[in-house]
Amino acid sequence: MEHNSIARPIRCKAAVCKAAGEPLEMEEVEVAPPRAHEVRVKIVCTSLCHTDITFWRMKDGPSMFPCILGHEAVGVVESVGEQVQEVAVGDTVVPVFLAQCGECADCLSPRSNLCSALPYRPGMPRDGTTRFSLAASGEPVHNFLSVSSFAEYTVVDVAHVVRLGGDALPPEQACLLGCGRVHWVGAAWKVAAVEPDSTVAVFGLGAVGLAVAQGSKMRGATRIIGVDVNPDKFEIGKKLGVTEFVNPNDIGEQTVSEVIKEMTGGAGADYCFECIGSVSVMAEAFKSSRIGWGKTVVLGVDGSAAPISIPSFDIMRGRSVVGSYFGGIKPKDDIPVLANKCLHKELELDEFITHRMGFDDINRAFDLLAQVQCLRCIIWMDGAEQKAGA
Ligand SMILES: NC(=O)c1ccc[n+]([C@@H]2O[C@H](COP(=O)([O-])OP(=O)(O)OC[C@H]3O[C@@H](n4cnc5c(N)ncnc54)[C@H](O)[C@@H]3O)[C@@H](O)[C@H]2O)c1
Ligand SMILES: [Zn+2]
Ligand SMILES: [Zn+2]
Repeated sequence: MEHNSIARPIRCKAAVCKAAGEPLEMEEVEVAPPRAHEVRVKIVCTSLCHTDITFWRMKDGPSMFPCILGHEAVGVVESVGEQVQEVAVGDTVVPVFLAQCGECADCLSPRSNLCSALPYRPGMPRDGTTRFSLAASGEPVHNFLSVSSFAEYTVVDVAHVVRLGGDALPPEQACLLGCGRVHWVGAAWKVAAVEPDSTVAVFGLGAVGLAVAQGSKMRGATRIIGVDVNPDKFEIGKKLGVTEFVNPNDIGEQTVSEVIKEMTGGAGADYCFECIGSVSVMAEAFKSSRIGWGKTVVLGVDGSAAPISIPSFDIMRGRSVVGSYFGGIKPKDDIPVLANKCLHKELELDEFITHRMGFDDINRAFDLLAQVQCLRCIIWMDGAEQKAGA
């Protein structure tokens, strides 16, 4: 096993973001050897998620420039630092932005997936520094969400890597287990624990809502009502389990909750998922849920963190609201289970891969993600491996 005593800095290509909203620039960077509890990973493929775009655009946000974005990827361990026992050189790993130290009160409890020993902080999780610098000038380059996968090599804390053992999952599918889809599938699977034969309403059919629909279908929901102002979303939705569609712009004077109640014989949906990030839609989702046991799961992020207005009497009558961060998934426990589901075709990820490209074209992926038809664009680090297709 190669420890950092013998590992050397590596010079490689990285897509560096130098200023908010500016195209990424291909630069030669130096990637320092992994320190204690860290592993250096050779990225095989990565993809772009809305969160990368949110931080890339943010002028006054927490992003520090220059930085290397990217947090959805799969790679192979190239070297390990001291005290790393969990993975070895040559292992296939999925880096994740949420830590699982395995020892804190939260990691030990089945009720939480928010590791309290290594909560999010800028830089490397244990010391806040970075392992990246520009090869030409030595200027430090910040890391992003503890992953920074838009580089041929990256250094990740061992609490942030999931080892994929057993039968090999195609890299493109393994990559999608790093964020996006699978964690939102988790909202239906773990947070709501959708029961067979139930009726689900999904508000917002973006990447998040579509994954929730897919997760609900996997759990045996028979009716999945998709709500979106964009009618194009119904076609994609149908492929992933949406059975009915409501466009809030086409229902005249009625409210969405009135329509959903009508569609469900007056009862309301058993589960409602808000996947937009609007507090008024969160309240509407709640109103669409069934008295007695209706559960509303909030996934959308409202930037101003405004309160939701819900009548207290309705909560008394058995309806509840919960939030879902990262789909309630504990990375090291749950991602291997989901990988196994992918291998056995119980979880469909290929539908989400709409585009592919080589690393040098990465800026094009930013434009593509804004389009309705693009769910995920896989970026192959070695352009030669790029598959033909979309
Ligand atoms: N909880 C988590 O772990 C987590 C993780 C990632 C993202 N998110 C959040 O989830 C939300 C959705 O993300 P996304 O990537 O799917 O976004 P997206 O923009 O791709 O999708 C949002 C969808 O909602 C529709 N929409 C917008 N306003 C609407 C309205 N008033 N009524 C009906 N439909 C409406 C849009 O047409 C679009 O299809 C965001 O707030 C994002 O920040 C949460
Ligand atoms: Zn993401
Ligand atoms: Zn922990």
